[in-house]
Amino acid sequence: MPHLEVKNLSCSYGHLKVLDGVNLSLEKGQVVSLIGGSGSGKSTLLRVIMGLTKPDNGGIDIEAQAVDYNSPGSIRSAREKIAIVFQQYNLFHNMSVLQNVMVTPLKVQKREEQQVRQEALALLAKVGLQTKSEAYPAQLSGGQQQRVAISRALALHPKILLLDEVTSALDPELVGEVLDTIRTLANEGMTMLIVSHEMNFVREVSDVIAMMDGGRIIEMGSPDEIFNTPKNTRTQDFMKKIAWH
Ligand SMILES: Nc1ncnc2c1ncn2[C@@H]1O[C@H](COP(=O)(O)OP(=O)(O)O)[C@@H](O)[C@H]1O
Ligand SMILES: [Mg+2]
Repeated sequence: MPHLEVKNLSCSYGHLKVLDGVNLSLEKGQVVSLIGGSGSGKSTLLRVIMGLTKPDNGGIDIEAQAVDYNSPGSIRSAREKIAIVFQQYNLFHNMSVLQNVMVTPLKVQKREEQQVRQEALALLAKVGLQTKSEAYPAQLSGGQQQRVAISRALALHPKILLLDEVTSALDPELVGEVLDTIRTLANEGMTMLIVSHEMNFVREVSDVIAMMDGGRIIEMGSPDEIFNTPKNTRTQDFMKKIAWH
């Protein structure tokens, strides 16, 4: 049973068709990456999976359960299983790092404080921020803030983690520390759907790569297939144009 299944999904903004019959499936523990040019629909796909945008056709199954976009209860239960981290980390600036990680498990999930605190401290240690729990976001680098944002997402116990260009706003020397964190999660078996322009990273960490263009997945395969022997000419062009570093 796939953990997440995207079935013939279409989505429009007004007259603009942004997703056009997308099919995708993630097994437990799989890392799937979406690549493709700007405007190809990658973020919209993540937003629909997260229940932030309503599709106009097709749908999403999470653990074999269809999300009903007309039912707030169904969307809420989908969001309990999925967490997303964006390019802009959106931390609460008036809260310490520890409070940022603890707030949703406490206030929304109503979990027990002592346990939430212990877990938050363990998560911060995992991302290398054990000494920063009392710091405020403004006192941290972008890479550190993004690692707090990842800890905050993990504190929700998601079954699936969505990452939308989480390193794109960072200075180049800070990208590596965030990629290391994601690599660790992949090795621990976290199911992830990743949008990234860090091609060496995508190649290394992904089980499956899907190339998007014009709201469709035009090619999908192993890293080796997509990077070494892409079949679609758009994929071939994309590989030539992207910056390698
Ligand atoms: N809220 C919105 N309203 C109208 N158009 C949007 C909105 N969000 C995205 N779009 C358009 O949808 C298309 C796909 O965008 P997006 O999913 O953000 O692509 P990507 O993440 O691959 O760059 C683009 O043409 C974009 O301009
Ligand atoms: Mg995007």
